[in-house]
Amino acid sequence: MTSSKFFLLTTLISLVASQAMASDPSPLQDFCVAYKGSLANLDKPMDTTKSKAGSNVTLVNVMKLASLNTLGISMARIDYAPRGQNPPHTYPRATEILAVLEGSLYVGFVTSNQENKLFTKTLNKGDVFVFPQGLIHFQFNPSYDKTTIAIAALSNQNPGAITIANAVFGSNPRISDDVLTKAFQVDKKAVDWLQAQFWENNHN
Ligand SMILES: *[C@@H]1O[C@H](CO)[C@@H](O)[C@H](O)[C@H]1NC(C)=O
Repeated sequence: MTSSKFFLLTTLISLVASQAMASDPSPLQDFCVAYKGSLANLDKPMDTTKSKAGSNVTLVNVMKLASLNTLGISMARIDYAPRGQNPPHTYPRATEILAVLEGSLYVGFVTSNQENKLFTKTLNKGDVFVFPQGLIHFQFNPSYDKTTIAIAALSNQNPGAITIANAVFGSNPRISDDVLTKAFQVDKKAVDWLQAQFWENNHN
């Protein structure tokens, strides 16, 4: 075999090999799913009466469903009380696609600096909306008497929810007043009041 033919052959082989690698990057994907094929359940309405925000997010991530390990997806059911909301939050590792199953939702997200442009929409039953990865977003049930149910899919097995108010005003230990007074352009009293509130976690 001439050296140029040999070069061509090895290039072809490595190309095929790398393509096989790309479509099956980890044997964990076979073994974990087959072995740990557990089941999660999102059929039950969740309690929204105890939540100050009036919502209950049931996230099926890799901690709940071990089979999701390495697969890059997860799912959530969100129940909203009348006038309830899922307060401004972000998933640093996932884009979210959400469908309304029952009721309606006023949703929005804000783009990054410098624009900080707000996109909003009122969704009705069957409508689908997407929240791009990392952007701060929220959902609010505008109805005074009807609950809303939504199902969301997320592009990571561990999306890592960050609720903005909880992280900023409810951190443990608290962020210094010197930082928050300037950051929010308010006085120390306002910061102390916000820090004294109970910042619940509405994610289960
Ligand atoms: C969500 O609902 C479940 C089941 O009804 C309940 O156990 C849980 O405390 C609720 N979570 C919140 C944040 O209200």
